[in-house]
Amino acid sequence: MNPTRIIIDTDPGVDDALTFLLALASPEIKLEALTTVRGNVTVEMATRNALSILEVANASHIPVAQGCSLPLVSELSVSGEAVHGQSGIGKATLPEPKSKVVAQHAIDSLIERIVAEPDEITLFTIGPMTNLALAIRKEPRIVSALKGLVIMGGAIRQGGNVTPLAEFNIHADPHAAHIVFHSGIPMTLIPLDVTYKCLLTSADVEQLNKIDSPIARFVSDATATYMDFYRRYEGFDGCALHDPLTLATIIAPELLTFEEHHVDVDISGGVSMGNTFADFMNVSKKPANMKVALDVRGREFVELFVERMESLCVRLSEAKHLPHHKRDSAVATDAPSHRPDAPSGE
Ligand code: BDR
Ligand code: CA
Repeated sequence: MNPTRIIIDTDPGVDDALTFLLALASPEIKLEALTTVRGNVTVEMATRNALSILEVANASHIPVAQGCSLPLVSELSVSGEAVHGQSGIGKATLPEPKSKVVAQHAIDSLIERIVAEPDEITLFTIGPMTNLALAIRKEPRIVSALKGLVIMGGAIRQGGNVTPLAEFNIHADPHAAHIVFHSGIPMTLIPLDVTYKCLLTSADVEQLNKIDSPIARFVSDATATYMDFYRRYEGFDGCALHDPLTLATIIAPELLTFEEHHVDVDISGGVSMGNTFADFMNVSKKPANMKVALDVRGREFVELFVERMESLCVRLSEAKHLPHHKRDSAVATDAPSHRPDAPSGE
């Protein structure tokens, strides 16, 4: 089975960074590009972080296109600084990236890559959906050209993490989410209901750190501030793997329980602005517009995540000993799965 070809639209962000690493560690996935957006940090910082993280992972060949610096309509809401640290990546000191952002705007990059090869690319949005919403408005053919869309966002039965009713990515640009939800793209939602069940603990990070590797150190430094935040405000010793869980739709879909529903988002501007709600009783008689993950075998996902990080550490240290021109392609290709029952792709 060929790997699933993906683009990640992102606002790195600690758990965004962990998502890139998981994609690079997973043979079921071919990461083709990153596009950045304002969310956890400014779009300039998001772009810099994306380039640097790819460099840490020896994957600078993956293009990064910079996207929108402001939400469509809303005022700028809270940034993710308290959770992700001032740089966006916790206590990790990232190298000044040697590679450059591509000249094209993220919106055009998404349109060009997706429309050129209909039904080939699955898009993962793990930040506010400003870029995708504008891409839909600029080139509506992107809707039918996308193979699929997986969104980290929303809180369906669960409360919000920015307001009592709204989740960060949706709240940061609710109008963009509204455009996307009503677009007709075949989509899957990974809301807080499931991501809060995937907690990477300090014991997991310690286990990973038994390997002497820049990746293990990066995971530990990057998650330190994130974990402090969770300890202080949420009362547990760990942090949620919100964004990485989106990739379970490819690498371990059996861990997730999905239901199909009509899901909408409140853009009326009141206290529930950005609230995502499913029509569980089908009172609106509207057809389902997405698959929603409502349960997950969280601990199994976290263990899979740690295994994949371990294999990435090993692969990177092997790549170091290869001739220079072969190093980039040594990442994220032909890696054996560590799980005997791992699905071979979508
Ligand atoms: C989402 O908000 C961001 O802070 C995280 O990176 C994740 O995408 C979780 O609500
Ligand atoms: Ca994110």
